[in-house]
Amino acid sequence: MATALVTTLVCVGVSLLFLLFAGYKENDSVMAHAIQAWDRVVPLIREGPLPKMLPDDSVKDIQVVNAQGKVEAATPELTGKGPIATFHADKANVRAERVLCPPQGLSGCSTVLAFKVYQPGGFWVLYLATPVVAWYGSGHAVILAVVVSLLVIAVITGWTFRDLTNALVPVNAIRSRMAEITATGLDRRVPVPKKYEEIRLLAETVNATLDRLETAYQQLRRFTQDASHDLRTPITAMRAQLEEALMHPDHTDWPAMSNEVLAGVERLQAIVTDLLTLARLDARAPLDRSPTDLGALVGGELKRRGCRRQVVHDLEREVFVDCDRLRVTRVLGNLLDNAERHAASRITVVVRRDGPTAIMEVIDDGAGIAPEHREIVFDRFTRLDASRARDAGGTGLGLAIAREIAEAHGGTLTIEDSERGARFVLRMPAVPKGEMVFANR
Ligand SMILES: Nc1ncnc2c1ncn2[C@@H]1O[C@H](COP(=O)(O)OP(=O)(O)OP(=O)(O)O)[C@@H](O)[C@H]1O
Ligand SMILES: [Mg+2]
Repeated sequence: MATALVTTLVCVGVSLLFLLFAGYKENDSVMAHAIQAWDRVVPLIREGPLPKMLPDDSVKDIQVVNAQGKVEAATPELTGKGPIATFHADKANVRAERVLCPPQGLSGCSTVLAFKVYQPGGFWVLYLATPVVAWYGSGHAVILAVVVSLLVIAVITGWTFRDLTNALVPVNAIRSRMAEITATGLDRRVPVPKKYEEIRLLAETVNATLDRLETAYQQLRRFTQDASHDLRTPITAMRAQLEEALMHPDHTDWPAMSNEVLAGVERLQAIVTDLLTLARLDARAPLDRSPTDLGALVGGELKRRGCRRQVVHDLEREVFVDCDRLRVTRVLGNLLDNAERHAASRITVVVRRDGPTAIMEVIDDGAGIAPEHREIVFDRFTRLDASRARDAGGTGLGLAIAREIAEAHGGTLTIEDSERGARFVLRMPAVPKGEMVFANR
């Protein structure tokens, strides 16, 4: 509709200009005929002989009126009639022009031209009457302008309509596929049209979003399955123990059984606490950041918790980070727990600075983690077979939490090569000493 409206406005404008031009041209041609007639008749008046009846080939109505106001010659239509007009040019001019409605002896409006022709007995006047030319020239010009305008409007509007309809076909296909995807499954993708760059990009973006949604959905589903499995296992065990005890109350060692059930409850509590921590990290809960000397923090924590294994540390001082101290302590705790579980005899903890990056490493001398497992151990509820066999205590959430915390600080947590055992590396942006306000707090 907008295209039709704009095209119509443009056509009206162009048609008006065309008609003005046509009117101008028509007027020019009428004047040219009048001048031709003047050219022909004036020599006849001056040199004679002047016939009573003048030919009406270029201008139909011509009259020659003498100094006394008598008609000396005229074209057939005006023969025998009185002068069609009485005006003439003033002294300084030869030619005068007026529109008379109508001139005497004629019907309808005409443009009458009066030329003075000087004769020995006073000046004669040559009158030429031509039809008044409309501003738009002629009816033909109007018809031409209207027909061409209608054609142009029809062609442009039709072409735009067809193009728009064609462009909307893929949009419609995308819409209906999206409706199906919502209803049935996230594994389907919207069709990507080959033409129409913007719509192609839209479809590709929609498909990329669906990819991410599907991945996130699958992760969530796996996580829910794993979580419910890990919660159900200790519950089932505790239920069996309690049922057994109730069936044989006299043969039950109640304090021992209570301790076992308590251990199960503690495990459930640990899982639920870890799940809550992950949920908070997922929800991007704000960190309680404060400027911290990483070496001092790690040193303090190592002293506080003590360790079943020999711990060697190499802690560079004045490596400052802007971090949530509790959460970074949690990362260190998780890494030390793992290292204690897997080390053969010794754990090494290093804090150092590498340009703009603060680095904390926890290295043990155990069996290590194969390169192909170095990413999956960060997935939730992932426990490698060796660990399952060795110790039923872990839930497989520790490293997932540690990595989430590292990422919340704008850092990374990775497993890197080492001569022996596993080497966990935490990297965080370091803050230059000059910018620390509360260093060594
Ligand atoms: N230092 C290590 N050496 C060898 N394997 C390790 C080490 N640290 C972690 N792993 C492997 O990665 C798995 C995941 O570790 P993660 O800390 O996430 O879980 P977890 O220690 O089993 O349980 P928890 O949730 O109690 O920490 C472990 O089960 C173990 O198989
Ligand atoms: Mg762990």
